[in-house]
Order: sequence, then C-alpha cells, then structure tokens
Amino acid sequence: MMSHVIIKGTGSYLPENVMSNDDLSKMVDTSDDWIRTRTGISERRISTGERTSDLAYEAGLRALKSANLKPDEIDLIICATITADSFMPSCACKVQGRLGASLAAAFDLTAACTGMIYGMVTAEQFIKTGMYSNVLVIGAETLSGALDWEDRSTCVLFGDGASAVVLSRSDSGGGIIGSNLEADGSKKNLLTLPATTMLNPYVDKDIEDKQYKISMQGQEVFKFAVRTITSNIDFLLNKTGLTKEDIDYIIPHQANLRIIEQAAKFCKVPVDKFFMNLDRYGNTSAASIGIALDELVASGNLNPGNKIILVGFGGGMTGGSILIEWV
Ligand code: ACO
Repeated sequence: MMSHVIIKGTGSYLPENVMSNDDLSKMVDTSDDWIRTRTGISERRISTGERTSDLAYEAGLRALKSANLKPDEIDLIICATITADSFMPSCACKVQGRLGASLAAAFDLTAACTGMIYGMVTAEQFIKTGMYSNVLVIGAETLSGALDWEDRSTCVLFGDGASAVVLSRSDSGGGIIGSNLEADGSKKNLLTLPATTMLNPYVDKDIEDKQYKISMQGQEVFKFAVRTITSNIDFLLNKTGLTKEDIDYIIPHQANLRIIEQAAKFCKVPVDKFFMNLDRYGNTSAASIGIALDELVASGNLNPGNKIILVGFGGGMTGGSILIEWV
C-alpha cells in the first residue's frame, strides 16, 4: 500500500528589523501610496546581518519542535533558496550541522519562488517510495543581499525570511493528495539573478555591481503569475475530482496583492479563500508559502479534513502546486 505523506510540523523565522514603505521612500523615488496600491505591501523584514542559513536554521528548529521530532529522526534536509550564503557548503548542510541532524542527507534546491513547492514535492517522492520517513523542507532567503537598492521597480517588492515544514510518512490517510511541478525555460529572461555574492545592505556598504542583482520584467511576470496560479488550481481540481467549493484555503506565493486578486477573479474563487500576509513581509521568494502556512496553522483556523492548495510561481520560470488534506 502506498504511504501517505503528511505535514507533521511547520515553522518560520523572520529577521526582527522592519523596513517600512516610508523608510524605502527615503532611499529611492517611491511612496507608501504607490507601493500599497500597486503591490499591497506595507512593510518587509530586512536582515541586519543574519545570513540565509541563520534564518533557515531557526525556521528548521521551530518546525522540528512543532513536529515533536528530535534532530536525529530527520532523514533528509532540503533547503530551497536562491540566496544561499555559499555554493559550497550548501545551506542544507549548514543547517544539518547546526541542528545536529547527523543521520540526515542534505542538499539545496533552486526553483526561485516555487522553491518550497519543488522541495515538498521532492520530499513527497522520497517518502512515498519508502526511502525516508521524515524530511525537513526549508525555504529561506535573504533577498536583501540580491537587490539593487537604487532600483525602485524591484527593491520595494522583496523581503527576507525563512520557513520550514516536516513531511512524514503516515498510514492513516490524508496529507498530500495531489501535486504538480512545471517549468518554462523559454521565459528564462523574465526574472534573473546571476550567480553572485550576497551582500547585506546594512553590513556591506560597498554595493556596486548592479549587473549581479535581481532584474525583472514586471508586467510579463505579473501575467505569468496569474496564469500559473489559475492553471494549477484547475489542474489539481481536475486531478483529484474535487471542486472549488471543497477547497478551504489557497496559499499562493506571496508576491503581490493584485496578482492574487486577479487570479481569484479568473478562477472564480472568492478572494477571501486566499491566505495573505504579504502586507507585512513582502515577497520572500522560497520562504513565502511556508511562512503563510505556519501563520495559518498558528491562527487555529485550520482543522482536520480541511483542504488547502499551496501554489507557487517564480523565476526560471517555474510553477507548481500541492493539494493537502489537513490531518
Ligand atoms: N515607486 C514609484 N513608481 C514606480 C515604482 C516605485 N517603487 N516602480 C515603478 N514605478 C513607476 C515606473 O517607473 C513607471 O513610471 P513611468 O510610467 O513614468 O515609466 C510607473 O511606475 C508604472 O510602472 P509599471 O512597471 O508599468 O507598473 P505596474 O503597474 O506594472 O506595476 C509592478 C509594477 C508592481 C512591479 C507589477 O508589474 C508587478 O506586480 N509585477 C509582478 C512582480 C512580482 O510580483 N514579481 C515577483 C513574482 S515572481 C517571484 O516572486 C520570483
């Protein structure tokens, strides 16, 4: 009998430092009003020195605690990130060492803002085949180190943060009941970040090489995002035979309020089914879906039997989604 794959624990960690829209308007020619009306973002967290692996470690620790597992019960750590401290060692290995998860294999995975979905679906396969029982999937980013802080069209959109989930084998049903991954490399130039050193804007004052920072064709990314959310929801409903009414919550990648509102309209799903916290954190790339999930869990509004769709889209371009029956 095929095993079920359930979410056994969740965790998230945000740097303490808050950067408001007004703070940003002192750095570039923008305003609180422009950012709020175009994106829905009010503030974001920006690390003042903590690196991606520091955030990843804290989120991982919290997820283990919530899953009630000891570090040596974890078989694999996957860290989804586009802002790792270094190519080698990987972020996942750094976390493995700090957690003392000495029996766990560890690797990083790059799928930009779809990273958490790619990580969870990868973990799902390892568990379904029986190879592993407990996998820690982390999405962690310090995008502040990858931004051109003089480019108002990108620096207002992003923030730093980390999230984690523990996926585990269960014989009692529920858990992940459908998933999808996709990519379109022909659109590779819509959103780019060349391989580069991550520089913290508070610590490393000498940020010069703008060519090595995030660049984006905003309107094309917007259209791609709306299409990807819509088609993934349709795909999962078709695949599982469920209807929109069966779905209790949708957690989209937290990029932009207008993207989510438009996707809700196209899917004909009430926008209040879409969980959002992007007003407080901006776009935290691979971390965003897990941070939102952790907040939804903490809110106490998620009950056994609830159906949730997680859906991501991001650079690459990449897309993906997971339908979960909460247990
Ligand atoms: N403050 C003030 N004005 C600005 C700012 C800013 N921060 N940024 C751009 N503008 C100006 C532009 O210069 C332009 O001025 P102009 O008309 O004088 O040339 C004007 O505002 C309109 O610019 P547009 O780019 O046309 O604005 P648009 O309505 O498309 O909104 C935005 C831009 C918010 C970036 C939108 O395109 C968008 O949301 N795109 C998706 C972005 C996104 O979410 N990306 C990440 C998702 S994928 C992932 O997470 C990896």
